[in-house]
Amino acid sequence: MKLAASLACLAAASLLAAASARADGAGDPAPVTSTNGEYFDKDGNPTYKIGKDGMVDWYTFIGYRMYGANCLQCHGPDALGSSYAPSLVDSLKSLTTQQVQGTIIGGKRNISASQELVMPSFGENKNVMCYLDPIYVYLRARSDGALNRERPSNHEPKPADWEKTIDACFG
Ligand code: HEC
Repeated sequence: MKLAASLACLAAASLLAAASARADGAGDPAPVTSTNGEYFDKDGNPTYKIGKDGMVDWYTFIGYRMYGANCLQCHGPDALGSSYAPSLVDSLKSLTTQQVQGTIIGGKRNISASQELVMPSFGENKNVMCYLDPIYVYLRARSDGALNRERPSNHEPKPADWEKTIDACFG
């Protein structure tokens, strides 16, 4: 009885640990460095920066737009999911940056007798690949609850090198 109780206790503790680890699959989103308008967390992963006045960084703003152009039709407005594709607000709570970007690049499928769920691979699609980090930081901000639904009202200015970077990517 005593053993069972302490085992239950242990199980509860590890569940709690898992739950807090799930709070943000990519870890602490606080920005510590930035280059050309893009912010990075302490692990060097792309992150968002959102001011108290709702001002978002350029990448989050562009990510919002590119999400709308390429992902919304399946994953729903504001990344909240649809009857066909999962809520990315939920998914990103437990996925690392590499897992999210890997799925965007390579796709994912879950096919059984009763369903056929296909996430297309975007690895060859420059309209997505050239905006991989913006799309990711937008989703990260949505998943963390740092960004409300709908269009960000205000954003940081376009970085000086932005057009050059995008032109170079499209080649
Ligand atoms: C044609 C519909 C469609 C489009 C367009 C689409 N997805 Fe998906 N996506 C899906 C489906 C369906 C799944 C679930 C696949 C599965 O369960 O194996 C999925 C899964 C994912 C996952 C993994 C979620 C998890 O919990 O593992 C991520 C991340 C993702 N999509 C991101 C994106 C992003 C970002 C875009 C836009 C660049 C996008 N998707 C565009 C249909 C789509």
